[in-house]
Amino acid sequence: MKKKTIAVVFGTRPDTIKLAPIILRLRQERSWCRTVCIATAQHRQMLDQVLDVFHIRPDEDLNIMKPRQSLAMITRNTVEALDRIMVEAEPDMVLVQGDTLTTFVGSLAAFFRHIPVGHVEAGLRTNDKTQPFPEEMNRRLTSCIADLHFAPTATAKRALLREHVDPRTVFVTGNTVIDALHIAVRRKHRLSIPALRKAMESGRRTILVTMHRRENWGEPMRGAAAALRRIAIEFPDVQVVFPMHKNPIVRDVVMPLLRDLPNVVLLEPLDYLDFVHAMALSTLVITDSGGVQEEGPSLGKPILVLREKTERPEAVEFGTVKLVGLDAGTIYRAARRLLTSPAAYRAMAAAVNPYGDGRAAERTVRIIRHYFHLTRSPGGEFVPRRRRR
Ligand code: UD1
Ligand code: UDP
Repeated sequence: MKKKTIAVVFGTRPDTIKLAPIILRLRQERSWCRTVCIATAQHRQMLDQVLDVFHIRPDEDLNIMKPRQSLAMITRNTVEALDRIMVEAEPDMVLVQGDTLTTFVGSLAAFFRHIPVGHVEAGLRTNDKTQPFPEEMNRRLTSCIADLHFAPTATAKRALLREHVDPRTVFVTGNTVIDALHIAVRRKHRLSIPALRKAMESGRRTILVTMHRRENWGEPMRGAAAALRRIAIEFPDVQVVFPMHKNPIVRDVVMPLLRDLPNVVLLEPLDYLDFVHAMALSTLVITDSGGVQEEGPSLGKPILVLREKTERPEAVEFGTVKLVGLDAGTIYRAARRLLTSPAAYRAMAAAVNPYGDGRAAERTVRIIRHYFHLTRSPGGEFVPRRRRR
């Protein structure tokens, strides 16, 4: 039997973290498949950090990142380079993950060459094409193209079925972000950045913060930063640890508002192991990130989400995640309540993790084998369980 070639296309921090467990799993299945790793490098430094942690060396690296790149620039540079690779590598399937431009353009390039597409983390929806921007549309467009849809949750599967996606192609796998998290927390790790180590050993309660969403650029982000400033001033026993996204547009807003405060620690993006271990040591997380919303509950951390809408309603329903939007007053009040009321804190920290059980990659790879008629059953679906406390 000729081995199947599975091309895995990634390019930013989150899609790479979430594809890493699948790449590692595919590498164990050498009897029937060959894996080709294609990095668009829509991110550069933040991508390389992830590749180092998971020991992944791309077979192809398009190296497209430009400072302050526009959506059009990313699309144009990625689609042309990917088309050439699709022709050369002749994959039997292309895997993409999530909702970045790399995801959508990766699926488009495969479609142009009649190559089947598997979409990991399919079916998340806000049903508002402006939030998150442009991710909601990246996800929907990828769903139109994909031949296999790996829905992380039953909610995501239902969303796809509502859009008349063929039910035989939709599988609930759990989210590979939890597989990655399991890999990370199992590793014994000493925080590698001295400033982070010092902060985490200071005895202060820590609010871990990340922020980067395009729809929050400018005024909304300023509101969030102002709330953080107010919290830091009012609670000197609390520290804000803020690994800043590399995007200069984010830094232009954040740094002037926060850099003069002694209990605010502004850092470069952390590598994944540092970040996960810092999250485990934190009291509270404030973020507009998608992935961090999924990881926090698993570590028992309350998450305040800087968004008006989320395509990840599960943890909100279970009470671990609260949407606080971008209004400075609302963010401040929500954080103050968690810092001052042990009961409010316990209520959010004591919740269920609905996103995965660490076996999403295994399920995904089995479904791909089934697609190629190499196994009779696609295997069972992910069902969330109550977290033991
Ligand atoms: C991208 C994704 C977003 C995802 C986010 C994860 C799109 C349109 N956006 O947003 O869905 O949530 O990644 O972080 O796909 N930069 C660097 N070094 C890096 C990374 C970024 O310098 O390693 C700077 C560059 O100036 C770059 C800018 O950040 O132009 C923005 O990067 P880009 O990928 O366009 O957007 P993100 O906001 O990172
Ligand atoms: N993360 C990281 N270092 C950081 C901040 C986040 O490794 O300094 C990880 C985090 O654990 C999560 C992922 O990056 O797995 C989320 O990426 P990001 O917030 O950039 O994108 P999103 O998930 O919003 O698309």
